[in-house]
Amino acid sequence: MQVSLALVSCPVVLQWAFLSSQVRQLEEFEKQPDGTIKSVCTKNGRAEGDRFIVATGAWISSLIPAWNSMLAAGQVVGYLRLTPDEISQLRDLPIYFNFSTGFFAFPPHEPTGYLKVACHRFGYTRPGPSVTSAPPSLAVASRANYIQRHSDRGFKYLPLIGRYIVGSQRKLSRELLDKWKFPTQFRERFQGEVFTGDGSRGGPERRELTAQELDTFDTALEAASSRSSKI
Ligand SMILES: *[C@@H]1O[C@H](CO)[C@@H](O)[C@H](O)[C@H]1NC(C)=O
Repeated sequence: MQVSLALVSCPVVLQWAFLSSQVRQLEEFEKQPDGTIKSVCTKNGRAEGDRFIVATGAWISSLIPAWNSMLAAGQVVGYLRLTPDEISQLRDLPIYFNFSTGFFAFPPHEPTGYLKVACHRFGYTRPGPSVTSAPPSLAVASRANYIQRHSDRGFKYLPLIGRYIVGSQRKLSRELLDKWKFPTQFRERFQGEVFTGDGSRGGPERRELTAQELDTFDTALEAASSRSSKI
């Protein structure tokens, strides 16, 4: 069986399809009368397939109803450009994670000279037009000093979880199939406040971005999308 892989990626829902190793701009899904996807239409033509994998990352709740069982929350991530001297001083920095504050850091990334620091916290939500919280839909084509980075979770874990994603074809046990199926049970009992944490997050409680923070963020995002990279 030929399986077409359609990876629909961020930052704009339904923007890109990776088909047969080619990246093309996705326009829409063509559906069969029963609602199953038959093909994807891109600017360069249609591609049919038996299965389509849609990887939207944090945009998922803008695409399908999840009854609040999935929530997009913004997190604080910072990249610091280091001098060659600072890089050599921090080369052996261990991976640091503080469970009280959620602050974590990696050793510097030598090829680009960046140090990544971030906070694994409960995050910030931003109301979307029809969902509890959604990331901005503005595409950032070229961002000043932007480090090319994919949604690492999906790409990193795909080789490990692939056999569960195609579970029904690989004859997984009923128990595993139940664990991996789409969580429709939340349709009946809508999740009001689900994200109490898994024990790994630290710092203050999750809150909504204020109007002023949203304004600052959107202005910066808009500026970043039109500025050219300095790298
Ligand atoms: C974690 O952060 C807290 C609060 O800033 C601090 O008191 C504590 O010493 C830190 N722990 C480690 C292991 O760095």
